[in-house]
Amino acid sequence: MNTLESEGLHTYYGKSHILHSVSLAVEEGKITTILGRNGAGKTTTLRSLMGLTPPRSGKVTILGQQTTHWPPFRIAGLGVGYVPEGRKIFPNLTVDENLLVPVSRGGPWTPARIYELFPRLLERKQNLGRQLSGGEQEMLSISRALLINPRLLILDEPSQGLAPLIVREVFRIVARMREEGISVLLVEQNARMSLEISDNAYVLDDGKVVYSGAAEELRRDQDLVDRLTGAHAE
Ligand SMILES: Nc1ncnc2c1ncn2[C@@H]1O[C@H](COP(=O)(O)OP(=O)(O)O)[C@@H](O)[C@H]1O
Ligand SMILES: [Mg+2]
Repeated sequence: MNTLESEGLHTYYGKSHILHSVSLAVEEGKITTILGRNGAGKTTTLRSLMGLTPPRSGKVTILGQQTTHWPPFRIAGLGVGYVPEGRKIFPNLTVDENLLVPVSRGGPWTPARIYELFPRLLERKQNLGRQLSGGEQEMLSISRALLINPRLLILDEPSQGLAPLIVREVFRIVARMREEGISVLLVEQNARMSLEISDNAYVLDDGKVVYSGAAEELRRDQDLVDRLTGAHAE
């Protein structure tokens, strides 16, 4: 069973045609990664799925519901946690206050359990969002998404701009979400690390799916990854 499916998404910003028939699936309880160079359309794909930039044509099905023309809050309410690119935490609210924001659906994730998962945030509880390091901000952003008790977690480049040790920590947390029974859709530029924890993979280029298959296959073939993500040209 698939937690999420998209079929033939075409998405525009004004007159710019960005996504060209993007179809993908997120299997229940699995981690699916979307790779691709800068500007490939990864963020636009996530925004289309979340209803933030709705597709002009195509179909999105999430948790058995046709969500194509739903507003973002309604999609979130189904149990979809979204960790946007650049984290988007509230800079002038404390860590504690940032964790009050999402609407909880009820379930295992509470602020107390979040502080167990991220002891670092507990220490920084009274600090303002803008006083946190990049890694702490990422943890806070993931925490906000977890507090809605998602069945599907969507993350846009969680490792961006983080020090290598913190990147490891973030990937460890994402891998742990699968053990919690959460389906994960992960967009990444860090192909090596994301393939290590993923079950399935897609590569986007120029708004089109140029690869879909088992993450294992890409894991074993670095040349293929480089070719698909245009790494050789950069
Ligand atoms: N708000 C916007 N208005 C117009 N064009 C945009 C906007 N956001 C992104 N784009 C363009 O859409 C394409 C895909 O961008 P994006 O989805 O952000 O790629 P990625 O996340 O893979 O780096 C790029 O060519 C980018 O310049
Ligand atoms: Mg992006």
